[in-house]
This record gives sequence, structure tokens and C-alpha cells, in this order.
Amino acid sequence: MERFVIQGGGRLVGEVPISGAKNAAVAILTATVLAEKPCIIENVPNIRDVSIILKILTDIGAVVQTIDRSTVMIDTKHVQKAEVPYEMARLYRASYYFLGVLLGRFGRASVAMPGGCDLGVRPIDLHIKAFEALGAKVSLEQGGMVDVKADNLIGTHIYMDGYSVGATINAILAAVKANGLTVIENAGKEPHIVDLANFLNSMGADIRGAGTDVIKIRGVSHLGGATYSIIPDQIETGTFMVAAAATRGNVLIKNVIPKHLECITAKLRKIGAVVEEFDDSIKVVRTGGLLKDNIKTMPHPGFPTDMQAQITVLLALAQGTSIITESIFDNRFRYVEHLRHMGAHIQVDGNIAIVEGGHPLKGAPVIATDLRAGAALIIAGLCAQGTTYIEDIYHIERGYEDMESKLCGLGADIKKIYTPDPLGMSQAL
Ligand code: UD1
Repeated sequence: MERFVIQGGGRLVGEVPISGAKNAAVAILTATVLAEKPCIIENVPNIRDVSIILKILTDIGAVVQTIDRSTVMIDTKHVQKAEVPYEMARLYRASYYFLGVLLGRFGRASVAMPGGCDLGVRPIDLHIKAFEALGAKVSLEQGGMVDVKADNLIGTHIYMDGYSVGATINAILAAVKANGLTVIENAGKEPHIVDLANFLNSMGADIRGAGTDVIKIRGVSHLGGATYSIIPDQIETGTFMVAAAATRGNVLIKNVIPKHLECITAKLRKIGAVVEEFDDSIKVVRTGGLLKDNIKTMPHPGFPTDMQAQITVLLALAQGTSIITESIFDNRFRYVEHLRHMGAHIQVDGNIAIVEGGHPLKGAPVIATDLRAGAALIIAGLCAQGTTYIEDIYHIERGYEDMESKLCGLGADIKKIYTPDPLGMSQAL
């Protein structure tokens, strides 16, 4: 098994480049199934979720060619299979986008229920309602397969009766080649939804209003190819911003869109970091103490749920009591137990965590319970006295490119090591 070993106590200092956004990449790479000509996608993050998508694309008949470390050419002309089996779909959350694209292209799709981080119950009812509104029949088959079929997809009004990033994206993917106009109301507004719409528009789609809560899609019969560069990762940037603040660091974070970080920037300034914004970079410096603050996760442009665990570590180091409210997912505090092993004083009551800050963190063996929880434990390890061992780092590698080498470049003492697990330590903890 692989684990991270971190010697804490050092400051992060220097410059770090940000990779392409995971959540945009998983939508855009999948959306190439709708293209009739080859697509060249740039700024693709080198992460596990992306490798899995490229495998699925190859499996269903696409030609995938790596041009360089962050550029890939995808030709989906010969795709014929409209199925994604359980072994692949279970490996990441956004496998459900194959339902939208295969339905849009072939009028049918069969994809296993998606996997991904365990953040509590994660239904896909809003995705299904959107497909049904467009005229599809959806059935849940044996073995957890979701089958979607439509003779004709017809543009319609879709009112999302819950806020869902994934369902908004799936509705766009299924509607982009439907007949007539589709209007999605109460749509998600995240930057990666806008990025997907821009990508589809660059292939000839007619999507307006992405980034607002009403998205209008006029169906087109053909989508060509495109060369497109994925936006920088908002959450990777936020993670390095918090890591810099937590370690009393001085870090210039490059290749970012500061506008996507406004909420995180505002919080970090309130908590005690100095944040300077430039055209495509952000500098985070901390010299003074940290102040308590309350955080409530909200859809974009509110504070992202994907930054909740990381900011909790920072507030565990601040003087005073902070209250964190998780309003998107119902089981996103599982990492707290591991922060407690490291000396943090945090109580969880339902979807609220009460963080009594100011207690020093000590290195300990801990487990990454999910992707962002893993990032938070790395930040905690960097600030702790002594050695932290993090198990189950495959979660982290699903969404962060070269995390340890980027941190080493900032002076962190973090290593990835392989050790056998004869005592089943990860089970015992
Ligand atoms: C996406 C992001 C994830 C982020 C999340 C919230 C991707 C690949 N993942 O996940 O990183 O944490 O947005 O910003 O972009 N829900 C339903 N029914 C549905 C769909 C969702 O009840 O059909 C609920 C979910 O259980 C959750 C909430 O809606 O409580 C938000 O989920 P959603 O926005 O869909 O998250 P994802 O798209 O899975």
C-alpha cells in the first residue's frame, strides 16, 4: 500500500502551478463522445479520474492519443458501444455523464450507478428527471445498471427541484443535440458548468446563460471538433491557498482564475492571511495569528463544499471557536475523527462542526476518507509537530495532480512510500 509520510513544522515558500480543473475535465472529456470530429483537449490534469475516463472512452471505441503530459486528442467517430460497465463506473462519481452523452449521441445508454467519494446518500433522481423531461425512458436494471432510452429527444422546460451540479451538466449533455429549445431553471452555476458550455459551443452548440441559474440550449444536429483548454482547478488552488496560510507560508499560486476564488480569498483574509490577486496568479502570505470564523458551504459563488475540510484545519489552528455548517452533503465530516487523532478539538453534531481552535496538531497515523478529506489531512500534517502517515492516498490521487512533488517544490517534507500492510493497519485505525 502507498502512503504519504509528512514531517511537519516547515513553512511553504515559493511558486506552484495549478493544473486543469478535475471537475471540468471529467465533463469535457466525456462530452467528446458528442463530437463528430477529433477534439484536442489541453490543460488536462494528470489524475486518476481522468485516466479512468480515457480508459472508458477507449473501451467504447474512441481513439485516444496523448500528445503531451496535459494534452490529449480524442476521436469518437467510431464509438459504437453505449454501455459503461460497473467495474469502471464505480471508480468515480462523474461516470454518470456517460448517461447524458451516450443518450445524446445514440438515444440509449446503459451505465452502472456511479461511485466516487462517500459523502452520504448521493441520489441521481434529478439527472433521471431531466432525461425523462427530454423524452427518455429510464429504468434501473439488475446489477445496478441505469438504462436510458429515447426515440427522440425533444427540447423542454426542466425545473431542477434541487441544486445539482451533476444533474445540470447531464441535462446540458442530453439536450445539446435534442430537437428544439431546452430551458434549465434553477441550474448550477459552477465555473466548470460554464467551461463545459464553452467547450460545447466551440464545437457548434448553442448554449446561453451558463453561469446563471437559467440555461437555454437550442438543439443542433451536428457538433464538429474543437481544440479547447480546460480552466484551472479552483479547488486545487484553494487547497494551496489554505496550505500556505496554515503553514505561515509565502506562496505564489500560478495559472489560476482569481475570480473563481473570490469567496475563498475573502474568508482567508478574514481569518488572517494576506491575499494578493494578480491577472492569473494569487499570492498568499501569513505572518500574524489566525482568527476564528464561521463557514457555511453553499453552491457557487458561495463557499465550496470541496474546500470545507481544508478550511476546518486552518480554523483548528485559529484562536477561538468556529462553526462549520455543511449544507450540501450529509456525511462530509468523517475526516474529523482523524484530525482529532492529531490533537484538534472538534465536535460534530449532524451537519455542524464546532471547532475549538488553538490546540497544536501532532503527527499521527490517519486515513484519507475521501478526496478533499485527504487534502485536509496533508495540510494538517504539514502544520503538525512530528510525523504524519496518511493511508488510502488513492483518494487524493483521484483529484490532485502531483500533490507531493508540488508540495516538495514549496519546501515541504512529504514522501510517498510503499509499505506492505501485514497488520491491516488501515482497517484497524
Ligand atoms: C459536484 C462535484 C463535487 C462537488 C459537488 C457540490 C463534479 C464531478 N463533482 O458533485 O466535487 O462536491 O458538485 O459542489 O463536478 N442530489 C440529489 N439528487 C440528484 C443529484 C444530487 O439529491 O439527482 C443532491 C446530492 O445528494 C447533494 C446535492 O444534491 O446533497 C448536491 O449534489 P451535486 O451538486 O449533484 O453534486 P455532484 O454533481 O455529485
